[in-house]
Amino acid sequence: MGSITNDQQSPLKVAIPTFPSEANTKEYAQSLDGKDHMRSFREQFIIPSRENVQSKKVAKPGLSNEPSIYFCGNSLGLQPRAVSEYVQTYLDTWSSIGVHGHFRDLEDSPMTQWQLLAEHASKQQAPIVGALPSEVATMGSLTMNLHLLMASFYTPTAIKNKIILDWKAFPSDHYAIESQIRGRGYDPAECMIMIGPKEGEYEISTEKILSVIDEHASTTALLLLPGIQYYTGQLFEIQRITKYAQLKRLIVGWDLAHAAGNVPLQLHDWNVDFAAWYRMKASLFSDIDCLDGMEETKSGDSTWTTASFASTFARRTTDFPSEFRPSTGASGYQVSNPSIVDLASLCGALSVFNQTSMADIREKSMQITAYLEHLLYSGTEESNRAFRIITPSDPSARGTQLSVLLKPGRLETLSEMLEEAGIVCDKRKPDVIRIAPVPLYNTYEDVWNFVQIFKAALAKFE
Ligand SMILES: Cc1ncc(COP(=O)(O)O)c(C=O)c1O
Repeated sequence: MGSITNDQQSPLKVAIPTFPSEANTKEYAQSLDGKDHMRSFREQFIIPSRENVQSKKVAKPGLSNEPSIYFCGNSLGLQPRAVSEYVQTYLDTWSSIGVHGHFRDLEDSPMTQWQLLAEHASKQQAPIVGALPSEVATMGSLTMNLHLLMASFYTPTAIKNKIILDWKAFPSDHYAIESQIRGRGYDPAECMIMIGPKEGEYEISTEKILSVIDEHASTTALLLLPGIQYYTGQLFEIQRITKYAQLKRLIVGWDLAHAAGNVPLQLHDWNVDFAAWYRMKASLFSDIDCLDGMEETKSGDSTWTTASFASTFARRTTDFPSEFRPSTGASGYQVSNPSIVDLASLCGALSVFNQTSMADIREKSMQITAYLEHLLYSGTEESNRAFRIITPSDPSARGTQLSVLLKPGRLETLSEMLEEAGIVCDKRKPDVIRIAPVPLYNTYEDVWNFVQIFKAALAKFE
């Protein structure tokens, strides 16, 4: 089995796709599928049928032969076939050798002994985010990890205590930031600086972000942004923003929930201070050792208190030293034993992911997203459209997701119509649907079929 590579490739080096006049035909979509370099991956996933996704029972896959159109890559993607093999192996190992599963490598198991599984998953994920294996820990939930990371990296002082965040930060990120500020004795109303777009727009320019950094640098401790904004699908310029903010002596963290595995990242080379993401199991990136952090934070502004560390425990050792010494690298953040069921699922999924490269994923992702955009917009004048795509039109400023803003009052009915047609995508009240094809299993024909159904459904409102 190959392993994933994350070639340092600027997304702009991939030619921006253009489409001929016959692109609106089903035959054209099928011809793109015929040339798709990733097409063999689809069979490694369980594609639910139309009837399956509408079922109110836990139905066995394959209720009918007609596949659903699954465009929920931004949230929970489809199940790779390998996952059930990995989870079943875990159950079989538990039922046959019980606790020995923690310490014994089995000849016919695709997984390593359980006590090394989190480390193994971190190694496998490191190239996906462009990190060293020692900089990644696979653990907990994203929000829990953000709390732990902020416990180390957010070191407010009387002068520098603000956190700069996105105006539409994911709600749990917003609450986590708020509670960290409050927990350190500061006032969230004064310390949370929100960066938003211009009135009536959705895209936030890098220049705007840099100007907010400039404005608040002398009073700000931390910048925490999403790599890809969950609502609009905008991909931020992580490297440029990180460098700029660090020059102004800010610590820089990223919520990569929607960016990891979607777009090429180089967290190590970009000198990102910390990041957190999830793909079934949450993971974090830290460029400092827990041990270093105990002595002094990276900013050198203040000493990391023991209290902020109280909930972090070293991996179990047989001799249980009374003095807490965290493991080196990001794994020092590991809080208690990780869930083996979660890790088995993750390792199953990574076994498929690791047969390709981020460059190959990105290439298809740019093409399939551009094709979706092209079909959505073609055939209707801008002034006559009942929707607007709020994701940046520049392919280098987005991942696979397109967020479509509908005219008011259509979301619920339109979502029901899409569901009845066997389409799974995501709605965000009041008026946005998020359409996120996945390069590993979605086809260009999926995109073509989706757009026909979407436009026919919208026409019923006229
Ligand atoms: C952008 C983003 N951040 C944070 C979270 C929260 O993740 P968790 O439930 O693992 O804490 C999510 C969950 O969907 C998310 O999409």
